[in-house]
Amino acid sequence: MAQDSSARLVLAIETSCDETAAAILRGSELLASEVASQIALHAEYGGVVPEVASRNHLRTLQPVLERALAKAGISLDAMDAFAATCGPGLATSLMIGTSAAKALAIGFRKPYLAINHLEGHLLSPFFGTPQGVRPAIALVVSGGHTLLVGIEGFGRYHRLGQTQDDAAGEAFDKVGKLLGLPYPGGPNVDRVARDGDATRFDFPRSMLDSDDFNFSFSGLKTSVRYLLPKLENISLPDVCASFQEAVVDVLVAKTLRAAKATRHRVIALSGGVSCNSRLREKMQTACAAQGLELLIASPALCTDNAAMIGYVAALKLAHGESSPLASDIDPNLQLVA
Ligand code: KG4
Ligand code: ZN
Repeated sequence: MAQDSSARLVLAIETSCDETAAAILRGSELLASEVASQIALHAEYGGVVPEVASRNHLRTLQPVLERALAKAGISLDAMDAFAATCGPGLATSLMIGTSAAKALAIGFRKPYLAINHLEGHLLSPFFGTPQGVRPAIALVVSGGHTLLVGIEGFGRYHRLGQTQDDAAGEAFDKVGKLLGLPYPGGPNVDRVARDGDATRFDFPRSMLDSDDFNFSFSGLKTSVRYLLPKLENISLPDVCASFQEAVVDVLVAKTLRAAKATRHRVIALSGGVSCNSRLREKMQTACAAQGLELLIASPALCTDNAAMIGYVAALKLAHGESSPLASDIDPNLQLVA
């Protein structure tokens, strides 16, 4: 019987930064997704140390792959393709995952697929939805990127705007560090902000009214820094809540403005920062008020994972695409040229 090309088995590996992840998909059905976090290892340095990350990917990848295979109940020789993130990310980390996937592709004589990490985030809100990828305005907010993208269909994206300096996640992490919160700052600022008054400090909403879809978060970080000498006398939850509100206000306003300008009716929110409780809440309220449909991936699919990489790989495979084994990593890979 001819095999349904949309139901082929894909093993995907993600090692672009500090998470070692593997996932197995049958078509667009997720059979297993394993993530080994290195957060504890990097916490003592207050950020990701590239050499520590790559050494640990090397140590952890094999057990993570074995766990994914055991969960899916499938052996390596049953796979129809092997995929890995080829960029953007840390060069020494990307090399571990792509080398492993290429070795498996060579060993089992199956196609290799080099996947753009940003396309993984971008399409993650569509994963598991009945319609799959469809026209939308996408906001990708991660530790390294803040992008507004128009999606016309699979592989058809155009960039509307991006950050001019810090990424949204980077701003959360830097502010968390300034305030003495544990690494990574993002989830900790979110947690502390729950008990704070978001109107206590009127932080700048940079570029809120600019005539484009770009962002800037470094001025906001500087405003928080000015408060540091007074930190003993002010409420940390109020600072966190006010900072978070400023970031979220700009992200929500620009996304909705982009939807209006392009007449898109669907918003797709992705990347680690889309775990943020206030962003999810405000985006939900704003979309409901405008009659827009909001797609947000589950939190496990928002932060780095291999399921989103496998989803893109499965779509590429179904479109007859694969990558040459000689294809290289690209630490600065863009989503759209
Ligand atoms: O997508 P991701 O896992 O990795 C990158 O590709 O960068 O995103 C990580 C970023 C970090 O900056 C982290 O602090 C942020 O996502 N993040 C959050 C939250 N959870 C993760 N930022 C704000 N609120 C959160 N709840
Ligand atoms: Zn990411």
